[in-house]
Amino acid sequence: MSALVIKGGRVLDASGERVADVVIDDGRIAAVGADLSAPDVIDAGGCVVAPGLVDLHTHLRQPGREEAETIESGSRAAALGGFTCVVAMPNTEPAIDCAAVVREVLALGRVSSCDVRASAAITVGRAGERLTGMAELAGLGVRLFTDDGNGVQDDRLMRRAMEYSSGLGVVLAQHCENEALSAGGHMHEGEWSSRLGIPGQPAESEELMVMRDIALARLTGATIHFQHLSTAGSIAMVRAAKAGGLPVSAEATTHHFTLTHAECASYDPVFKVNPPLRTAADVAAVKAGLGDGALDAIATDHAPHEPERKELPFDEAPPGMLGLETALALALTELDAPLAQVLALLSWQPAAIAGVAAEHGGDLAVGRPANLCVIDTSATWTVDPARLASRARNTPYAGRTLTGRVRHTLLRGEPVVLDGEPTR
Ligand code: DOR
Repeated sequence: MSALVIKGGRVLDASGERVADVVIDDGRIAAVGADLSAPDVIDAGGCVVAPGLVDLHTHLRQPGREEAETIESGSRAAALGGFTCVVAMPNTEPAIDCAAVVREVLALGRVSSCDVRASAAITVGRAGERLTGMAELAGLGVRLFTDDGNGVQDDRLMRRAMEYSSGLGVVLAQHCENEALSAGGHMHEGEWSSRLGIPGQPAESEELMVMRDIALARLTGATIHFQHLSTAGSIAMVRAAKAGGLPVSAEATTHHFTLTHAECASYDPVFKVNPPLRTAADVAAVKAGLGDGALDAIATDHAPHEPERKELPFDEAPPGMLGLETALALALTELDAPLAQVLALLSWQPAAIAGVAAEHGGDLAVGRPANLCVIDTSATWTVDPARLASRARNTPYAGRTLTGRVRHTLLRGEPVVLDGEPTR
């Protein structure tokens, strides 16, 4: 492919902001400066040119549930959302818990619209009983291990996983849910679950596991990453653990800072998610945590489900919401945060946690891989489920008007989204 120039944008990365053109050649940034030219031109007038976004938490459903999403369709949705890298969750069928499935996901990812990194399960089949061969899987490039969809319930096994992972240079990530407390709950336990007659899960179900894993991190010295934190109590514990010097990190999803449990009054399963939508005070705590560093990243927990299943009654429908195509716009619209902070939370901070900082989220500097996105921060658009690239339609934001849109996304120097349209 011939060299191209991204012209007329404001470049924004972790090192600051400047007006500059960016020349890309052979998959890498070849020059950054004023009045540059190249055979192909991509217009970035009025836009921000930023490192590509990185999602720590994407369900791509392949292998096993291709009717809901495939690596091809999910990575296209990711690229449209400005993501150049996603970490695929292992609750596929079969689970990503052995070398063969890791290889399959990585091979499909190599020909997709974003860089797909496989996470792998902590326990075989995500059954919570025996540890997976983490060393072998780390050798294939797995950097994040999680039983996401479930938390590791057994305290002793989790301690062993932490001890085992410490020497491997990998991150253990936890879906925090004490199942003895959450069993049978379909939404947050509180005012709305009582009114609606839907059994709830208490905040303490999440908080007990955060508390346990902080204790185990102290015991073992291992790092732990907390996934999709949703309660004020969890975030306060992580804040205190960080202040005490423990190597913990944490993410929150876009839905946990934009929606509350009151949405469940519609009985519409599109609002069913795990962990559940919480109270307005929890939403405020998530926003505060994103603002003060208690939370390191915004993740999507993109969880596609085919309409036949998501249209079941509330207590029978599977939990999960789409997220990749709306995450950046929701953050720009709903968080009262400077753009640089939003990008830190969606790009360079998650890139560091995922272990992909050599390729994603880094400064737009000469020699760096050209994984980047061009954002029109003032464009407004209305979410239309029918127009999403995902195979599924379960967005809770249908009809919402958002500000901020991805105009172009480049993966290894190649445009995968141009003027808001996918190229593959
Ligand atoms: O809402 C959720 N959906 N939470 C999870 O932990 C799993 C996910 C899914 O796989 O659908």
